[in-house]
Amino acid sequence: MTEDARWLSTLEEQARARLPAPVFEYVAQGAREGISAARAPDTWASVRFRPHVLRDVTDVDLSTELLGSPVEVPWGIAPTTLQRAIHADGELAMARATARAGGVLVVSSNAGTPFADIGATGVRWWLQVYLPADRTLAVPLLDRAVAAGASAVVLTVDTPVVGTKYSTGRVVWDVVDPGLLRVNFDEHHDQQPGADKALDLGPHDLDWLAAHTGLPVVVKGVLRSDDAVRCVQAGARGVWVSNHGGRQLDRTLDTATAVRDVLDAVAHQAQVYVDGGVRSGLDILAALSLGASAVFLGRLPLYALTDGESGVDRMHREVAVQVVEAMRLSGCRTLDDVAALHAPPAPNSL
Ligand code: FNR
Repeated sequence: MTEDARWLSTLEEQARARLPAPVFEYVAQGAREGISAARAPDTWASVRFRPHVLRDVTDVDLSTELLGSPVEVPWGIAPTTLQRAIHADGELAMARATARAGGVLVVSSNAGTPFADIGATGVRWWLQVYLPADRTLAVPLLDRAVAAGASAVVLTVDTPVVGTKYSTGRVVWDVVDPGLLRVNFDEHHDQQPGADKALDLGPHDLDWLAAHTGLPVVVKGVLRSDDAVRCVQAGARGVWVSNHGGRQLDRTLDTATAVRDVLDAVAHQAQVYVDGGVRSGLDILAALSLGASAVFLGRLPLYALTDGESGVDRMHREVAVQVVEAMRLSGCRTLDDVAALHAPPAPNSL
């Protein structure tokens, strides 16, 4: 039994009440009219299960394999900036709690904590990057991540420019210490010519990243099956279906829909991950039942982080309780069973 079965769904309001208004607004907002961001949670609720009964669900196993390595749970933490503006322990709290849960932590290249300190927590972590116009300027950041034990590189491809957000008053950059982010870049990185985000990303960048780091490359921000195929042809080991939490192009296809197209196109060649509006264990089950290999959480752990490390611990715990309950209620003992939930009954099984 959880302490309060509704706790996860109270987190956003808890964060709104506790955080300085510009910080909360920065986390919660979507781009432009915020249509994609507002709609995302409901799209998971519209996935309907076809539960099995009369199956032994005594032992439920949440473990799986991501990019060839075992993980204890099929959800991870999406890369997000400004975790230290939410709680002083920021990325370290997120890392320690996620290590205990046995999930993957994806660390934003804008993180406010040195990669070496994150790696020292023992968490399995992947580096997220935006590539600059002059690719060589990314090299020191990549090298620091490799040295600190990053086990994959996630290239975010939906951000050639930052989507415009509207604000009602002071914005986060007016109130936040700039020292709370981008501590893994060289000191004068942003002033150098070519440091702006690349406008000319292409499949060759995947090759370059893999060759430079020796790590598997995941492409984050894919919404179309044809692009997913191009990623796989260029060597991507994972395709991450995302619309950046509705923070880039507004009015995109929701990820609960896009993930089906992408799975149809590349599920046999690469792992497919998804994020966007996932707020509960049932949302996670919905994504896994469509065939995703893992689900990533953006705002939910940020809201939980208002309680520091114990908040993120509790978030993982509550999510696990919900996923296990939903697996038992749908007759699933393993994640393979979950992935088969939408399969129509075989005719000869009657
Ligand atoms: C993000 N996201 C993000 N993505 C990325 O690739 N690099 C980054 O630095 C950030 N920063 C960031 C900050 C904040 C405050 C948010 C809310 C999001 C996008 C993130 O990784 C993820 O795609 C979405 O957050 C998923 O949607 P939900 O779970 O927040 O609805």
